[in-house]
Amino acid sequence: MIDDLWYKNAILYCLSVGTYMDANGDGIGDFKGLLRRLDYLQGLGITTIWLMPFQPSPGKDDGYDISDYYGVNPRYGTLGDFVEFTHGCRQRGIRVIIDLVVNHTSDAHPWFREARGSKDSPHRDWYVWSDKKPANADKGMVFPGVQKSTWTHDKEAKAWYFHRFYDFQPDLNTSNPQVQAEILKVMGFWTQLGVSGFRMDAVPFVIATKGAKVKTPAEQYDMLRSLREFLQWRQGNAIILGEANVKPKTDMEYFGKAGDRMHMMFNFHVNQHLFYAMASADTRPLAAALKATRTRPATAQWGLFLRNHDELDLGRLTKAQRELVFDKFGPDKNMQLYNRGIRRRLAPMLGGDRRRLELAYSLLCTLPGTPVIRYGDEIGMGDNLDLPERNCARTPMQWSTEPNAGFTESDRPVLPVISKGAYGYEHVNAAVQRRDPNSLLNWTERIIRMRKEVPEIGWGDFQVIASRDPAVLILRYDWRNNSVLFVHNLDEQPREVSFATGLPGETGKLLVNLLAEDHSRANDDGKHNLLLEGYGYRWYRVGGLDYLLKRSDIDTDSTGKASHPA
Ligand code: NOJ
Repeated sequence: MIDDLWYKNAILYCLSVGTYMDANGDGIGDFKGLLRRLDYLQGLGITTIWLMPFQPSPGKDDGYDISDYYGVNPRYGTLGDFVEFTHGCRQRGIRVIIDLVVNHTSDAHPWFREARGSKDSPHRDWYVWSDKKPANADKGMVFPGVQKSTWTHDKEAKAWYFHRFYDFQPDLNTSNPQVQAEILKVMGFWTQLGVSGFRMDAVPFVIATKGAKVKTPAEQYDMLRSLREFLQWRQGNAIILGEANVKPKTDMEYFGKAGDRMHMMFNFHVNQHLFYAMASADTRPLAAALKATRTRPATAQWGLFLRNHDELDLGRLTKAQRELVFDKFGPDKNMQLYNRGIRRRLAPMLGGDRRRLELAYSLLCTLPGTPVIRYGDEIGMGDNLDLPERNCARTPMQWSTEPNAGFTESDRPVLPVISKGAYGYEHVNAAVQRRDPNSLLNWTERIIRMRKEVPEIGWGDFQVIASRDPAVLILRYDWRNNSVLFVHNLDEQPREVSFATGLPGETGKLLVNLLAEDHSRANDDGKHNLLLEGYGYRWYRVGGLDYLLKRSDIDTDSTGKASHPA
């Protein structure tokens, strides 16, 4: 595996072990089952698996309530099974990153149990306490409507403890040097077992000052530098992918101006504006979001996603924009969550419309960053809105037409498998789609393959090219004398666009279509005229058919310094 900045052009795939594949027939997915599915994943073309939490946990927040950082939940297997799995990944050239959930533990964690038991416990100061009810106890909830407060009184401790999330997730006192040292130990442990990095949960809260007297939490950004430094001492190619839904003006604080903090961050800003663009067919706010998040250090990268395991958070849109997305993609109250988002899966949101799904994936693969795919989206899985909160979009992977979608031989799967109806496993499953050359699965495989052939997206700089039509987004990337250009029509209606390829002196150039035979030759005025079908998209290489020769530029130098300005 070439290690240099591998994450700049990776294809990430996130999954929960418990709902992916059950090998032992107890109804719960496990590492042995996942190991058997690695050939499927390799065939799909993904390069990195992001595993959601799999450590011992009471499982009240789908594993984001960890009770032992150094083990594997026996439901999923043993530490030995984990290592077999990472070995299986390495054999296939697939990397593994795992969740690092250190903002809080479970209240079942021995540290918290000890801490609440006595003021003299060595772990007491690992958590955040107050003798009296803090004034802001009913402020700052992350799950409004479900979570009642951020401070809870604990009878045993005879004190209040702070929890940014649910009350069974007491916050760690991350300013405590002992806690900080323990976080490094956790990272060291898993890198030793073969992981290539961490998706770091709730970063802004991890680095925030915490306490009853803290009115406005301040971010202690330097903590991020210490984490990165340690990680790179231990394993130079390991990365941190931060979950930080922050405003663009603070992005560089998280990446570090010297590129010395997070390697990657999820681009929540673009994610929300992308959904707005798909809902409204107005790409202008999306273009603005791309520009607002353009600046990043040369070695950093955005993680791009459509849907993840949480709700589609629309909190950064204006009220009017948010209402429009609700209206188009989640009109029923039951589809919405926490007053800010939509809890559905991608395919039902887009009406199961293949044209719109392709458009969404094509955008995911061509916007600036590294795509992160949610398991099941490659076959267009649906949701089960009868399940509470975010569980509706966490149902078991649909493998085949066998009972329970081939996910388990048990008749009691961990969560109900979606059955019957448009998204039931009887129609939507990997086995049927694998055999159908025109399936979404095979299309996804092809688009992933093509994404890998355009490293300019990961390495290069982009510009938004004027199309004069708000429904059409044209992006161009340049890197080492190679250029690619992507055109997307977000409207249902066909659109005719006329555009210049972008650089002066380039008039008359051929645009080579990377996905079909209809290449585009410029008119006499140097512009390209294009008729795009509703939800149509084009991937072009700029500059004629000699591009294959030029590509040797890319292949011969793997150190590939990015040309992106900070
Ligand atoms: C963010 C995770 O994505 C979410 O699923 C979880 O509930 C919270 N952090 C708390 O860990």
